[in-house]
Amino acid sequence: MLTSRIPGFYKLPIEERIKIIKEFANLSEEDVKILRSCLDVSLADKMIENVISTFELPLGVAVNFLINGKDYIVPMAIEEPSVVAAASNMAKVARENGGIEASASEPVMIGQIHLSDLENLEEAKKAIESKAKEIVEKANEIEPSLLKYGGGAKGIEVRITEHEDGEKFLVVHLLVDCRDAMGANVVNTMVEGIAPLLERICKGKVYLKIISNLAVYRTAKAKVVIKPETIGGEEVVDGIVKASKMAEADPFRACTHNKGIMNGITAVALATGNDTRAIEAGCHAFACKDGKYRPLAIWRKDKNNNLVGKIEVPLAVATVGGAIRSHPKARLCLKILGVKDSRELAMVMASVGLVQNLAAVKAIVTEGINRGHMELHARNIAMSLGIAVEKIDDVVDAVVSEARKKGKRINTEFVKEIAEKMGVLNG
Ligand code: MEV
Repeated sequence: MLTSRIPGFYKLPIEERIKIIKEFANLSEEDVKILRSCLDVSLADKMIENVISTFELPLGVAVNFLINGKDYIVPMAIEEPSVVAAASNMAKVARENGGIEASASEPVMIGQIHLSDLENLEEAKKAIESKAKEIVEKANEIEPSLLKYGGGAKGIEVRITEHEDGEKFLVVHLLVDCRDAMGANVVNTMVEGIAPLLERICKGKVYLKIISNLAVYRTAKAKVVIKPETIGGEEVVDGIVKASKMAEADPFRACTHNKGIMNGITAVALATGNDTRAIEAGCHAFACKDGKYRPLAIWRKDKNNNLVGKIEVPLAVATVGGAIRSHPKARLCLKILGVKDSRELAMVMASVGLVQNLAAVKAIVTEGINRGHMELHARNIAMSLGIAVEKIDDVVDAVVSEARKKGKRINTEFVKEIAEKMGVLNG
């Protein structure tokens, strides 16, 4: 059984890392070629409009993930240093504690139809509710593609919403099990298709017919239980719990807390060809679903003083269709990840979000985010100063060792000073 626990992975040359991934995910030579290549511009030209080039991002893999007893190596596409390292480090801590427990709901999305110009909203609501079966059947007749996988339209909900100026609207939700698709195309086809039927039933006018990205019925949960001695002791645990409560009490902090979670979730979404904007919009709206913006992951102590972290996030993610169909590297990332369906992908993403949050919060309540990632921080600054790529490692080594020796903070001035002494600062 191959393990994702790979000590020293980060120290290996890229070719060695690829060899390990090839073995872990049973990649072919063709797959490895895709890893080494960039998206073909003629393919890109078929994906969006007015293409002039492609835009590259680093693709890393987070190691050490153990979720529901299964090993995962997690591809992450992201420009920010320290995110992949932090995910790997905290996945290792989670693993030492038995791993992450995760679950996912059925992949049900909401298609919305907004109606107005109705004589009596309550009667219109009742009329639509009484025709639920006919509406669902019609939706599945218009778009039957999901039925053979056990998905398709399953039911409706009818709501009345009110603008602050007093105007009221009737909102019909079509609940669609999208199986392994993200669902936007299918759901939009269904709601557009049933709109005339709804107008006939309630004698109103349809204005909007589109999917909702607030995927409250398509969520994934993850949980970890961490023994204090595996994360730096009781004081660290207390700090993390305090930080969680601070985020629960303050939307300004909750926003940044959630940004750290999205560092992980969005990076996996991007690597696997998923719609990052839909996921981000959904997660932030979900964070606010009770009327106050809240942290998506929270931390407490259990009765044995273990640290317990939990996350629940809406994740409209796919393992088929969309960019996954057209982007060879996205398909390859799904192969490396080894998930069998969209629910398993959602579980992995929730788990990554949870440990990413743990890594960030632990760093902040202990040594601070920069000191914790001294080397990465130094590298980031050295890159921003335009130091030649082949000199970066030497500068980083010198900066970190000087900073340690002199107990100095690493900042732009400090890196500049050392780079100047080494004669590698351009201009
Ligand atoms: C930086 O990308 C993310 C953090 O700000 C998250 C947090 O503050 O929890 C470190």
